[in-house]
Amino acid sequence: MIITIDGPAGSGKSTAARKLAAKLGIAYLDTGAMYRAIAFAALQKGVSLKDEDAILAVAEQSSIEVDCGPTHTRVMLNGHDVSEAIRTMAVNQATNFVARIPRIRQMLVEKQREIGRRLGSLVTEGRDQGSVVFPNADLKFFLDASLEKRALRRYQELTADGEEAPYEMILENLRERDGNDRKQWAPLLEPATAVHIDTTQMTIHEVVERLLDCVSRKNLAK
Ligand code: DC
Repeated sequence: MIITIDGPAGSGKSTAARKLAAKLGIAYLDTGAMYRAIAFAALQKGVSLKDEDAILAVAEQSSIEVDCGPTHTRVMLNGHDVSEAIRTMAVNQATNFVARIPRIRQMLVEKQREIGRRLGSLVTEGRDQGSVVFPNADLKFFLDASLEKRALRRYQELTADGEEAPYEMILENLRERDGNDRKQWAPLLEPATAVHIDTTQMTIHEVVERLLDCVSRKNLAK
């Protein structure tokens, strides 16, 4: 069983995907973490973010391993666990440059499909999971929310992790990422068959209940 959850930054898809996977007892894959790991490697190597060939070279020379469980995705970069280190604002910004490089997307799409084949059952979350990576998924969701609500969620996440990040800066960063999501190379696509959920006024509990309801109506739950 493959369930895809796509949506813009801060739509609540990561938390929802993790909780849904835990309820169903199947693996959870955070595909944004894979793009972030390459951005983190590029920052570590000090390559220019405008130099696509240099970023690609870093990606090709790096070993990225993903360990997916029902409650976590842990990312190992060259044998080191970078799951927490990839969550900073600096990595957020660098990832915008990485995610637009077609050959990097191709590499990661292949890796994601391979994980899907190996595990068989998966809740996978990102921008292109239902549209490009798993077009034959059993169930597809698209989560959305207002820009202000998404910025507030990111602000609460970052400050809970102890990072200093002014709300206004996060709002601007999200506005910029929304702009990127509408560009020609943008990965964010809503599949025609996806269940669309606007989470602006919903608690995470309500979102997960809604997802579970759709899963049981499709008779997918074990
Ligand atoms: O969901 P996130 O914020 O962790 O994603 C980090 C970045 O990676 C963001 O710029 C969008 C990009 N991304 C992507 O292009 N395709 C995906 N499947 C997942 C994330």
